[in-house]
Amino acid sequence: MKKIKETINHLHKTSTAALKKAKTADILEQIRIEYLGRNGKIAKLMSTLKERSLEDKRVLGPILNELKKSVQATYEQHKERIDTQSVSKQLFDVTAYQPNQLRGGLHIYTQIIHELSQIFISMGYTVAQGPEVETEYYNFTSLNIPEDHPARDSHDTFWLCTPDKLLRTHTSTVQAHAMEQTKPPLAVFAPGRCCRSEATDASHDFMFTQGEIILIDKKISVSNLLATAQAFLQAFFNKKDLEIRVRPGYFPFVEPGLEIDGSCPFCKSGCSICKKTGWIELLGSGLVHPNVLRSSGIDPEKYSGFACGFGIERLAMLKYGINDIRYFHSSNLAFLKQF
Ligand code: DAH
Repeated sequence: MKKIKETINHLHKTSTAALKKAKTADILEQIRIEYLGRNGKIAKLMSTLKERSLEDKRVLGPILNELKKSVQATYEQHKERIDTQSVSKQLFDVTAYQPNQLRGGLHIYTQIIHELSQIFISMGYTVAQGPEVETEYYNFTSLNIPEDHPARDSHDTFWLCTPDKLLRTHTSTVQAHAMEQTKPPLAVFAPGRCCRSEATDASHDFMFTQGEIILIDKKISVSNLLATAQAFLQAFFNKKDLEIRVRPGYFPFVEPGLEIDGSCPFCKSGCSICKKTGWIELLGSGLVHPNVLRSSGIDPEKYSGFACGFGIERLAMLKYGINDIRYFHSSNLAFLKQF
């Protein structure tokens, strides 16, 4: 009699401890079977009653029933605990990673803008962002593109219903903002979204990203521009022997205006990317026009500077061999997952 009472106490203690420790529904179920199952420890103990005297049965019967009820109650209590934990995990534990789940990552736009920013920060530039909804003044007038100038037409502007408001067509808008905010010397890199009302194809999109750099100081000349452009392109394409060449170009906000080509980073003697020419058009640039300096309150007799603009998707397409600009904002996961 003493021994069976000890066994009952022992079962009560060990089952309570095991149920308390259980962390998952599976483990809890195993414990339930071990103690409360049809062939479990409690059932086995109950089955030994039939070999006992009537008197023992009268005493032990209710004690064993009590044990069973108590273990069952403890089990229910812990089942509820584990169920609520697993529901709240499903709802809130965003870190509950499971193999083969799709993982988030930085969009290629973000990655490439970080990469470009790092290059310009290493050269002493600060990174700035101007508004995407602009006024005519910043998009055109401040950039020496007066009203009725044909260059305005070539920009295929999206005009907003609010008078004087438009979606910026280039990041050169940041030139005047930067010069108004900081007195020279200044060196700014401005990446950002631009829009043009254009038909789309593999190399044109109505929404795209540009990078603009502007540097103003005393005695800035074309040689500063060329050295900067070459260092930037060498760093971006990770090619120390990348060379540049210059062609004249017309942009109303620079004088002289220059188109800068880079030697093809992918071949030595001509490939499909450089169209067998060995050169790729990469940057629009020039020395900031005196009218642009003047309209931002900078004296062109004292200061000069250069500006340079480029298509960020275009650079990324070249670097990563992407053949359609429209992939960038297509939400195509097969494309996005590569980066
Ligand atoms: N804003 C010009 C465009 O969108 C690109 C450009 C050309 C920027 C020459 C410049 C520059 O700063 O000097 O086509």
